[in-house]
Amino acid sequence: MTKLAIMGAMEEEIEPLLSYFENVNTVEFANNKYYEVNYDGLEIVIAYSKIGKVFASLTAATMIEKFGCDTLLFSGVAGGINPELKIGDLIIADKLCQHDLDITAFGHPNGYVPGGKVFIQTSEELRTIAKKVALENNLKVIEGTIATGDQFVHSTERKEFIQKTFDADALEMEGASVAVVCDALNIPYFILRAISDTADMDAGFDFDEFLKSSAKNSADYLIKIVKEL
Ligand code: ADE
Repeated sequence: MTKLAIMGAMEEEIEPLLSYFENVNTVEFANNKYYEVNYDGLEIVIAYSKIGKVFASLTAATMIEKFGCDTLLFSGVAGGINPELKIGDLIIADKLCQHDLDITAFGHPNGYVPGGKVFIQTSEELRTIAKKVALENNLKVIEGTIATGDQFVHSTERKEFIQKTFDADALEMEGASVAVVCDALNIPYFILRAISDTADMDAGFDFDEFLKSSAKNSADYLIKIVKEL
């Protein structure tokens, strides 16, 4: 690895990451800010994309193609589906899918378009490092499927659809689009989330309440992983 990209979707998701670094150089590009830092000789670019799949794809592609990053880590929050995941708990994606991608009208499965695939796998090497770090630090981390869509899910009906259709453990709004970009550009990537809500009728309230603390849980773990790269 020569240059590392670290992404979040919201400012609150990268603030706790940036707080670890001094001497931050800010570069503006394509209506966004990219924060360049150096950690023990490793060049890192940090950015938050803004919410949703389109902004996340733009940011991931920019970090790779313009800034020359060759590994990408994502840190942020998610809605929990797996009942084992409580607010604040950590999940790393072994694979991701787009729960709102729907051309079932033409006989295709949910989450599929021709030329793509329903599930995209994350880097096994990065997950192995992350699991070792979790073990060493006594952190409970679940490895599972993350479903992504351009919707803030706040109903048991939609949550159940996503659970039944994709057997997903958590859901959010960026991960799978980052996965598509990294997979296409052959860049190893890792998606980490901490639970901020359980995507049901209380989700909006819980998200506001727990965004910052869960984002910090995710960021603190991510920094421990960076130290091992
Ligand atoms: N990120 C965190 N909670 C979420 C939810 N309920 N829906 C979509 N993205 C989320």
